[in-house]
Amino acid sequence: MVPLNKTISDLHLTSTFETPIIEVHNVSKTFHLSRKQVAINHLKNKDKVALNDLSFTVFKGQVYGLLGANGAGKTTCLRIIATLLQPDQGTILVNGHDVTKDSTLVRQEIAFLTTDLKLDPFFTPSYLFDYYSALREVPLALRNERKKQLFTRFGISEFSEVKINQLSTGMAQKASLAIALLHDPDIIIFDEPTNGLDVLTAKLVIDYILELKAQGKTIIISSHIFSLIEKTCSKVGIIIDGKMALEGDLKQLTTKENLEEVFFKTYLALEDKNE
Ligand SMILES: Nc1ncnc2c1ncn2[C@@H]1O[C@H](COP(=O)(O)OP(=O)(O)OP(=O)(O)O)[C@@H](O)[C@H]1O
Ligand SMILES: [Mg+2]
Repeated sequence: MVPLNKTISDLHLTSTFETPIIEVHNVSKTFHLSRKQVAINHLKNKDKVALNDLSFTVFKGQVYGLLGANGAGKTTCLRIIATLLQPDQGTILVNGHDVTKDSTLVRQEIAFLTTDLKLDPFFTPSYLFDYYSALREVPLALRNERKKQLFTRFGISEFSEVKINQLSTGMAQKASLAIALLHDPDIIIFDEPTNGLDVLTAKLVIDYILELKAQGKTIIISSHIFSLIEKTCSKVGIIIDGKMALEGDLKQLTTKENLEEVFFKTYLALEDKNE
């Protein structure tokens, strides 16, 4: 029952940015490299700390941008949220489910999208859509409706019977986007969503993210592209060497300077501190 003294705008706030959906609590992850990996990469240490006591929360309906340079730990963090990797320490809850204990439930509620395609190159978008729909137990009628909707939206209907290895990178990327979203999840994790895409496909992906945002989906996007984060996100976390270096509302962080300036300032301040 809604209290009568609540205004429409109170209710709107309650339904958007007050319900935690992705809760990352003090997560650490170290990769232990083989002697061969250490030698090939000319490293001094066989332990590579990817995440170091990382914490942040993404609320319902929020688009959260995880901004960081190469090797900052973005993919590691997203892979742990998506249950593809185990943390060494810390906990992550996705819609209340612990990613290590309730991984099946977490997987049902999310879509995880990366640019390194994992689609089988010898099958067609249409076949793969049906295959993954069956795995996710999407009813047949709904599957056909979603397929039509998503293939039309991404302009892949014409190519639905062409094998993935014969599609352009952009077309294959769009097919993977459609397949990842087939179960219409409320929580979507994008790892570098526009990497390697031409400007037209990148725009289509950005427009689609904005559409999902308007539908009230909870979204996390990792990127090192300032304009992508600025166009799509409401909140941003700057991750440096596996640590959250700065976090805040995008509008508030960028009142006096743009996101690129904020990022470099944060980077330099940390470098000075570590010297
Ligand atoms: N499977 C792995 N084995 C060993 N080291 C790894 C592994 N995955 C990641 N790392 C290391 O952990 C650190 C964080 O990597 P991660 O891929 O999470 O960074 P990122 O922010 O996604 O970078 P990029 O922008 O290049 O994608 C890097 O130093 C990387 O080399
Ligand atoms: Mg990455």
